Parts: sequence; C-alpha cells; structure tokens
Amino acid sequence: MAERLLLFWIFFVLSTPARSQLDEFFFNGFKGADSNMSLNGASEIQDNGILRLTNESQRVLGHAFYPRRIQFKNSTNGKAFSFSTAFAFAIVPQYATLGGHGLAFTISPTKEFPGALPSNYLGLLNASDVGNFSNHILAVEFDTVQDFEFGDIKDNHVGIDIDSLVSNKSVPAAYFDGNNSKQDLNLQSGQVIQAWIKYDAQNNRLDVKLSPSSVKPRYTLLSFEVDLSSILQESMYVGFSSSTGLLASSHYIMGWSFQMNGEAKSLNLDKLPALPGPKENHLGPIIGVSVSGSLLMILGIGLSVYLVRKIKNADGVEVWELDVGPHRFSYQELKKATRGFRDKELLGFGGFGRVYKGTLSNSNTQVAVKRISHESKQGLREFMSEIASIGRLRHRNLVQLLGWCRRRGDLLLVYDFMPNGSLDKCLFDDPETILSWEQRFKIIKGAAAGLLYLHEEWEQTVIHRDIKAGNVLVDSELNGRLGDFGLAKLYEHGSNPSTTTVVGTLGYLAPELTRTGKPTTSSDVYAFGALLLEVACGRRPIEPKALPEELFLVDWVWEKWRAGAILEVVDPRFGGEFNEHEAVVVLKLGLMCSYNSPKARPTMRQVVRYLEGEVPLPEAVEAPDAYDEKKVGAGGSELEDYLHSYPTSSNYEKVSMQSSVGDDKDADLEAGRSTSPLSLPSRGDAR
Ligand SMILES: *[C@@H]1O[C@H](CO)[C@@H](O)[C@H](O)[C@H]1NC(C)=O
Ligand SMILES: *[C@@H]1O[C@H](CO)[C@@H](O)[C@H](O)[C@H]1NC(C)=O
Ligand SMILES: *[C@@H]1O[C@H](CO)[C@@H](O)[C@H](O)[C@H]1NC(C)=O
Ligand SMILES: *[C@@H]1O[C@H](CO)[C@@H](O)[C@H](O)[C@H]1NC(C)=O
Ligand SMILES: *[C@@H]1O[C@H](CO)[C@@H](O)[C@H](O)[C@H]1NC(C)=O
Ligand SMILES: *[C@@H]1O[C@H](CO)[C@@H](O)[C@H](O)[C@H]1NC(C)=O
Ligand SMILES: *[C@@H]1O[C@H](CO)[C@@H](O)[C@H](O)[C@H]1NC(C)=O
Ligand SMILES: *[C@@H]1O[C@H](CO)[C@@H](O)[C@H](O)[C@H]1NC(C)=O
Repeated sequence: MAERLLLFWIFFVLSTPARSQLDEFFFNGFKGADSNMSLNGASEIQDNGILRLTNESQRVLGHAFYPRRIQFKNSTNGKAFSFSTAFAFAIVPQYATLGGHGLAFTISPTKEFPGALPSNYLGLLNASDVGNFSNHILAVEFDTVQDFEFGDIKDNHVGIDIDSLVSNKSVPAAYFDGNNSKQDLNLQSGQVIQAWIKYDAQNNRLDVKLSPSSVKPRYTLLSFEVDLSSILQESMYVGFSSSTGLLASSHYIMGWSFQMNGEAKSLNLDKLPALPGPKENHLGPIIGVSVSGSLLMILGIGLSVYLVRKIKNADGVEVWELDVGPHRFSYQELKKATRGFRDKELLGFGGFGRVYKGTLSNSNTQVAVKRISHESKQGLREFMSEIASIGRLRHRNLVQLLGWCRRRGDLLLVYDFMPNGSLDKCLFDDPETILSWEQRFKIIKGAAAGLLYLHEEWEQTVIHRDIKAGNVLVDSELNGRLGDFGLAKLYEHGSNPSTTTVVGTLGYLAPELTRTGKPTTSSDVYAFGALLLEVACGRRPIEPKALPEELFLVDWVWEKWRAGAILEVVDPRFGGEFNEHEAVVVLKLGLMCSYNSPKARPTMRQVVRYLEGEVPLPEAVEAPDAYDEKKVGAGGSELEDYLHSYPTSSNYEKVSMQSSVGDDKDADLEAGRSTSPLSLPSRGDAR
C-alpha cells in the first residue's frame, strides 16, 4: 500500500509540471536579469537594462532566450496550448534609413543556433535547413529588408514563419490608432514599438498586433490560421533572434511579458528604460576647465596631448611582423609621402579602404598607398602572412605590391602608381577621351592574362574574389592590370567561421556565391564575364537608370543575342567604329562566363585562348538552362552588397555615385524596395 502511495505520489509530481511558476514572466527592462536570459552572439544586457540583440557590426547574430524550457503542449493529447506575449523593441539602423536586417520572436527547440546565418536568415536557419519541418521553429519576423530569395513583400514588414524564412503570411508593418484607423509604421525608425502576439488554441489562430504606444490596439494587423500542435514540440524555448548583414542595425528589446494559457500583460512604454539619445558632446566642460585653469594646467594638457600623439604614432612593431616578405615601410615615411594622408592626395575609395597618391621622398617614385582599417586585430595578423605571398606575385598584368606598413588597426599597402586610374573611371567618369575598341580589347586581354596567372600560373591558386572594372587599373601604356588581388581574403579572416561572408560587388557576384559563400575560380570567371559585357557595352552590370528590362546588363545582352541583334548592345560611344568580329567574341564570351552553372563556364585559360583568337568560340551560345534558371539579383544579400558598395567602395567614384543614385526612384529600383523612400547615406551620415 505504501509503495502504491509512493508511486502515486511520484506520478502526481511528475505529471504536474511545475508550470504555474515558469510559464509566465514579465520583464520591465532587463536590469539584473542576466540570469533570467540566455544570451549568445552579439547580444548583451546593457547597464541601462536594455537588451541589445545586435550591434552595428556587420553580419553578427544575436540571440536572447528565456533560460528554461516552457511546456507548450498538453502531454496527454498533444494539443498546443494558447499563449500570448507582448514586448517592446526598437530598431536603430546604422545609417538613417538603411539598416539590416530584422528581429524575430522565436519559439524553438534550442536556444542556440549553431550554423545559423546572419543577414536575411535572421540568425535562425541556414541554406541547408531552411524549410525543413524537423526544425520545429515558429518565428514572427519584424524585418526591414526585402529579400527576394525568401519572397518578402517589401522591406518594412511583419511575417509569420514556420521552419523557414519564407513567410506563411506577411503584411506591411502598420498599426491601428485610437480611432481604429490603420497607420503606417516604420520598424526601423528607432522609436519604441510594442508587439503583441497571441495564439488561440481554440480557434487555431495566431494574431499579431503592433503599436508605437502602450495601448493595445483593438484590431489585429496580421492573423494566420494554424494549428501549432504539429509544429511545436512539447517543451520549447522562447526568445528573440536577430542579425545584421552588410548593412547593420542595432536591435533592442526594452521589455517582455509572456503568459501561457492567458493574456500577457501589456508593457507601459513610459516605464521602460529609454534608449540613450544621440551622443553628448563632452567638449564643453573640458574647454571651460582649461580656460579657467592655470598656466600649469595648460602646460600639463599640452604635455599629455604630446604624449598621446607620440604613442598613437608609434608603429608598435610586433615580432611576427619582422618575418613578412615585401619591404616594410615606416609609417612616418608613408605619412610624408602622402602629405599626412590629406584629402587632396585621395585617389579614391578602393575596395576596403582609401587610396592615396604618394611620392616616396628618397626615390621620387610615385606610389599608391591603400589604407585599410580593420577592426579585428586577429584578422589582420592572419592576413599579414598572406602579404608575403602576395608580394611575390609578379606579372605585367598585376599591379605590383611594393611594400606595406602596419600601424595599430591600420594596414597600409604600397602599390605601383597607375596614372590612368581604373578602367571604371576610364569608362564612366566623364572621360575626356573615350577608350577606343582597340584600347578596350587590349585592356581586357591584359586583365584576362593577369587573372589566368593568379588562377593557374603561380605556385598556388589565387582567387581574386573582387573582379570588377574598378579593380582593373590602366597603366600609362594602357595595359590592363588587376589590382586588389588577395585582399578580399582579409574580410574572411576574423569573422565567425560558421557564417559565410560574401565579398564582392553586386552584378559581378556569381549566383552560387550568395548561397555557398565560397569563392572559386569559376566565380572569378563569372565576374570576368560581367566585366567583358561591361567593357563592350560601356554600361555597368546593373544600371539603375536603365529601363526595367535593361536593368541587368547580362539579361539585356542575352535578349539581344536571342533576337539576333547582338551588335545593338555595343557601346554607342564608339560611333560604330569597332571590330565587329572581336566585339562578338567578347560579348559571346561574356554570356558564356555568366552561365548559372559554374561548370558550364569556361576556365580563364579558355577565356584567354578565345580572346587571343587561338581557338574559335563555339558556334552557339546555347545552354539556356545553364543560363535561364538564374534570376539575376534574386538574393537579398547581393542587393545588399550592391547598396553597400555605394557608401564605402569606390570604384563608383563620388561623382558618378551622386549622378546615378541621386533620386529616390532610382535608389528604390536598385534596392528593390517598393515604397519607402531610401536615401543613400554619405559617409558622414554614419552615427
Ligand atoms: C530573475 O532571476 C532571479 C534570480 O534567479 C529571480 O529572483 C527573479 O524573480 C527572476 N525574474 C524574473 C522576471 O523571472
Ligand atoms: C558587436 O558584437 C560582436 C560580437 O560580440 C563584437 O565582436 C563586435 O566587436 C561588436 N561591435 C561593436 C561595434 O561593438
Ligand atoms: C490535457 O488534455 C487532457 C485530455 O484532453 C485534459 O483532460 C487536460 O485537462 C489537459 N491538460 C491541460 C493542462 O490542459
Ligand atoms: C545548418 O544549421 C544546422 C542546425 O543549426 C546545422 O546542424 C548545420 O550544420 C548547418 N549547416 C551548415 C552548412 O552550416
Ligand atoms: C531535415 O532535417 C533532418 C534532420 O536534420 C534531416 O534528417 C533531413 O534529411 C532534412 N530534410 C531535408 C529535406 O533536408
Ligand atoms: C507554411 O508555408 C510552407 C511553405 O512555405 C508550407 O509548406 C506550410 O504548409 C505552411 N504552413 C501552414 C501551416 O500553412
Ligand atoms: C481620432 O479622431 C478625432 C476626430 O477625427 C481626432 O481629433 C483625434 O486626433 C483622432 N485620434 C487619433 C489617435 O488619431
Ligand atoms: C593615359 O595616360 C597617358 C600618359 O600618362 C595619357 O597620355 C592618356 O591621355 C591617358 N589616357 C586616359 C584614357 O586617361
């Protein structure tokens, strides 16, 4: 009898889940709640009690989950319970109107997401598990970027996602005001927004409401009929996931309430910790003090300024740097050569950094000094070992690396100076003289030879990763020379190894790159194909000012090819003076290099042979399958790279930048964003 009692007692204890305590919580700010939240990635609880999921770094993930599992289903009949939650969030983009990506309220079997990707994957899934129903993930996304791959309806939207990032239902972000009239709501305005999510197990309905105030609106913004019983597991974690891409936003949660089988309390936004305003200017008091201070104090300040400067300028040579191959310049030498890196010497914003013109004082040699800032010291250090080998690359169609210098987080690379600048500049930057067909053809053949050397003729294969007109430099004899080889690699070091980093420029990015993130010689060939078309047509691979059907150069050339009117795409600036046979070779080859399937593309050796006329091109550029399945510009990350290339990269020089993205309509086109006005930031807009 006693045994039975004991058994009964054990049964009773086990079958009464300790629910009542655990499945309801309320955080009015997260101060001191470190133990109540499981954080990983970039997420942290700030001193002011605000939970910050991501910061403004690129491609970071942030997760914050309630630490204990919560019973989401009745263990007897397997039916999902009703639940509701309310939380207050704010999304502060890096640039006033440009941020990425979003955050998602998430119910998941785990609170860690190994192998999850940032950017459009929101830190939840990756390319291989997206859409797999064994994920058992329910997410309500508050997304600020329109991703074509996942069929997003627009940039600013709310969606319900089941085991996927393709939303089962989504709507533009909005709310119902006090008069029950619908108002637009910009998720990334930086203002605090409250979201209510409620699952009604009786009616199998998931409802989402939004409001910029403490009052829960009467009307539901997004309602989706679904029985979560088959999607959720019996016990699950609940929390938030968020990520940034090449464009970044900070994602904040100020408060959160959750209630199983009942109505979660709404948050009073006034009682929540407030986001700090713009950074204060601390200069005032300091000036006040020093003005009223004694002479001694002024001397003291002067001395410390001097000391700080001296320390700042010290090169701080580390032992490992001494082994590195090419000539090591001193910082002072380069500073002098570029006249203190003054803006007047700025040649442009090359890939990854600014490029200055310089004159080495002892030899009077003109050089180009590329200054790269890298936040990750580790990444820089790993990259230094590459410099030794990059310095040994020698080919007349490569821009020679002469030496380097490191100063704190800055890496300075010294190259041969190319007086005629980049091919991009020669083609588009209001050149005084239009490059003739012969000149262009010679430049193309040179660049092809340089790339072949990198791929096949050196002791190891070097993948360029960022072939584009801006990285083809033109020397004084109008030879094409590749610049920036190997540099893209710098951006793969130091990043989270489990996430893919796509380096490149939209329009030149092979379609598989955005999926796999793994650059290959074939992805270089793809980019080279875009370059071929660009040079022959005198048009950038993506031309925001073109008619929609001409937006993507490769699509347009392909259309004309099929219509048997291929010569119509040739740059009209030649005034009809070009070698038709060579032009057809270049265009045809450009199409072949742009095949969707990497295997269908020629190798660089073949490209060189075709260009040199050693081998005739195949008669037909067929394989439409290889081409057609591709939808150019389908990936959100590609678009992002494109956008990103405007504020920071260069090869679209300042002038053409303004002229080509001057008005919002064009910008919308590029961004693929349908409604929200999008003004591209200048560097000064960065917060
Ligand atoms: C957070 O955890 C502390 C100690 O672990 C506990 O006393 C407190 O009640 C928890 N707060 C919430 C809101 O769950
Ligand atoms: C953002 O968070 C990541 C991951 O914790 C960190 O490495 C990076 O330094 C942070 N960036 C900034 C700007 O604070
Ligand atoms: C679970 O389902 C059983 C059978 O339908 C029901 O008797 C029980 O009350 C349910 N438990 C909870 C906690 O809802
Ligand atoms: C994708 O994510 C799953 C689950 O997080 C992980 O097991 C898998 O290794 C990841 N795949 C890749 C290619 O990273
Ligand atoms: C879904 O994920 C499970 C477990 O990770 C795996 O066994 C299965 O093959 C995946 N299904 C698909 C279609 O990828
Ligand atoms: C959600 O969408 C996926 C496809 O994206 C579909 O397979 C699934 O059945 C949908 N789920 C519900 C509950 O409608
Ligand atoms: C509701 O409508 C009234 C009358 O049109 C207006 O005065 C009031 O400002 C509106 N309230 C809100 C919250 O828009
Ligand atoms: C290239 O440089 C040469 C010599 O410096 C100059 O004569 C020529 O005009 C330049 N060509 C272009 C297209 O800038």
